Amino acid sequence: MSASDLPLVRAARRQPTPYTPVWLMRQAGRYMAEYREMRRRYSFLELCKNPPAAAEVTLQPVDRLGVDGAILFADILLIVEPLGVGLEFAKGEGPVIAKPVRGEADLGRLAPIDVDSALGFVFETVRIVTRALDGRLPLIGFAGAPFTVASYVVEGGPSRDFVHTKRLMYQQPEAWHRLMGVLASATGRYLSGQIRAGASLVQLFDSWVGALSPADYRAFVLPHTRAVIESLSPRVPVIHFGTGNPALLPHMREAGGDVIGLDWRVDLDVGWQAVGADVGVQGNLDPSVLLTSPAYIRQRAKDVLERAGGRPGHIFNLGHGVFQQTPVEHVKALVDMVHEMSAR
Ligand code: CP3
Repeated sequence: MSASDLPLVRAARRQPTPYTPVWLMRQAGRYMAEYREMRRRYSFLELCKNPPAAAEVTLQPVDRLGVDGAILFADILLIVEPLGVGLEFAKGEGPVIAKPVRGEADLGRLAPIDVDSALGFVFETVRIVTRALDGRLPLIGFAGAPFTVASYVVEGGPSRDFVHTKRLMYQQPEAWHRLMGVLASATGRYLSGQIRAGASLVQLFDSWVGALSPADYRAFVLPHTRAVIESLSPRVPVIHFGTGNPALLPHMREAGGDVIGLDWRVDLDVGWQAVGADVGVQGNLDPSVLLTSPAYIRQRAKDVLERAGGRPGHIFNLGHGVFQQTPVEHVKALVDMVHEMSAR
């Protein structure tokens, strides 16, 4: 079977499929014992930079869960390491950037991002995984969208209010747009490299964009995200995902993407209406539901499927990543239920 006939790729193009394809954000991660075992041997960054090991982690959930796609094991912040900002993953705290960018002077110190030499290990992982999947399932490549990546570069780590980011955006718009331009251009080359190495579709994660109003999104973010999506070559289906603010959905759709990823804060039918019938949607079960019981998971998965109404163009997923405390059997049960309840 060629990649374009696989259910996930067909759904991303709004073509009919025998059942609703499903994969889960963070399907590879700490909720799986196999992953925790790998992490005893490697730090997170070592794991990302070791293509055979990263390929193994990419494939763990595929074999275990029966999902319809593999997602590359990597991180949205790998692309900022070559800038020389000092990326680390501190135990229990998430990502830390030692030298955050707060203005013109910091921008001047950034090194150029040579995607092929600095991120070649990611392309090697893609090649190993694609070879192992052998056309049975598609590999989803991914990158962070410019706003979400910039927010880490400016804040120096995770943030709740994004005050440094917004201050730069509002008070030094030229510096902001320069930083976004650097990230957008590197991200386009990075995703195109993943596609050339074998990714059948790609997801852009704009995980924290919901901190913005629609007007600020349009002024400070939309042109850069659009530039990433328009630059992709060769072209494959793009899933454009954001969280936190359903008012952004029509604007995200305008920025681009064949499928818009919905979080759980919007009902799927309402979200689909907001982005329009001429794009697909992905989502959007609340990841907390996986902490309940199989009976309740079934009820809530059924609700998501009913809201999609069997229309071509729905990819089942959570509204955000799998929580660490999630029982693997619940995740496996969800995948089976989605396949069974959506069979047509
Ligand atoms: O299975 C998959 O989804 C593929 C792998 C993947 C990871 N990160 C692995 C990871 C993907 C797609 C990402 C994307 C990512 N990384 C995002 C966007 C997705 C989202 O959740 O919104 C963001 C914001 C990041 C940045 C990042 N990386 C954070 C905030 C953290 C720490 C959070 C935490 O859970 O500790 C990471 C680390 C990270 N990335 C882990 C994994 C499996 C945990 C690292 C560990 O093993 O300790």
